[in-house]
Amino acid sequence: MTIERCAMPAKHAPELGQIQETLLIPLYARAVETRKRRPMLRDPRAVEMVESLDYDFSRFDGARSLVGANLRTLLFDHWVRDFLTRHPAGTVVEIGTGLNTRFERLDNGRVHWFDLDLPDAVALRRRFFEDGPRRRMLAASVTDPAWTEAVRSSPGPYFLVAEAVLIYLEEDAVRSVLDLVADRLPGARLALETAGARMVGSQDRHDVLAGMAARMRWQCDDPADVEAWRPGIALTTSCTFSTLPAPVRDRLPTGYRRLLRLLSAVRRRDIDAYRFNVFRVDG
Ligand SMILES: C[S@@+](CC[C@H](N)C(=O)[O-])C[C@H]1O[C@@H](n2cnc3c(N)ncnc32)[C@H](O)[C@@H]1O
Repeated sequence: MTIERCAMPAKHAPELGQIQETLLIPLYARAVETRKRRPMLRDPRAVEMVESLDYDFSRFDGARSLVGANLRTLLFDHWVRDFLTRHPAGTVVEIGTGLNTRFERLDNGRVHWFDLDLPDAVALRRRFFEDGPRRRMLAASVTDPAWTEAVRSSPGPYFLVAEAVLIYLEEDAVRSVLDLVADRLPGARLALETAGARMVGSQDRHDVLAGMAARMRWQCDDPADVEAWRPGIALTTSCTFSTLPAPVRDRLPTGYRRLLRLLSAVRRRDIDAYRFNVFRVDG
């Protein structure tokens, strides 16, 4: 007698460039968090994606920066949610989106949304996500002016999210992105983080990056310095893991709030080297 076995779908081995590979870190962070008993966020899609990829995610196990990635995600969610409260039919651009699921968390039925990333990252993303009437993927570098043309055809105002993206670019490239936004999308808000010397200088010992080829390139100790790059750039918000806005901090499970208080006390200088910022960019 022959027994027929149900074939398990083959896992897909991601083919990604060095910086693009870092998109697997926040993906795994959300999957790991989802499986916890008291998670700070739940993302069943992340669990599915991790399970369907042929990649050794165990290399990230136990890394404290996975918790940091999720805190950062909650903060950027908070900023986008706040924007959508004031502009429910505005446009959000997720720059360097990777396998991010922010649209799934925040879609209000009216927002227009773009997910922008380099071509290999978008090819991987297309295995899991589809374009829709209000949501489109764009395969391009953030430094390529072409993406702004697509965005300009969508209703303003614009909120641009660059979570864990621009720190991997050289400062000249980051400056060119700010110029692009100022010239083509004046009035847009841009959320990004800055990594100071203490963080960039210690990345070879970072619990996750140390084992990867990607490296942070843009070092910025004070996000207010970006205002001097050209007239019209204004830093509207800036915080660290120690100074998260109350709506984010107060919704964290108790254990995480305790951990943040402890880390803020004993690792303050490390924490302060990593800042989360929103800029208003005028032409
Ligand atoms: C650490 S991952 C962050 C992914 C996503 N933002 C998240 O939080 O899940 C960095 C992302 O930046 C993207 N990226 C790097 N350089 C880029 C560029 N020049 N243009 C667009 N995306 C870029 C990578 O492909 C990758 O998806």
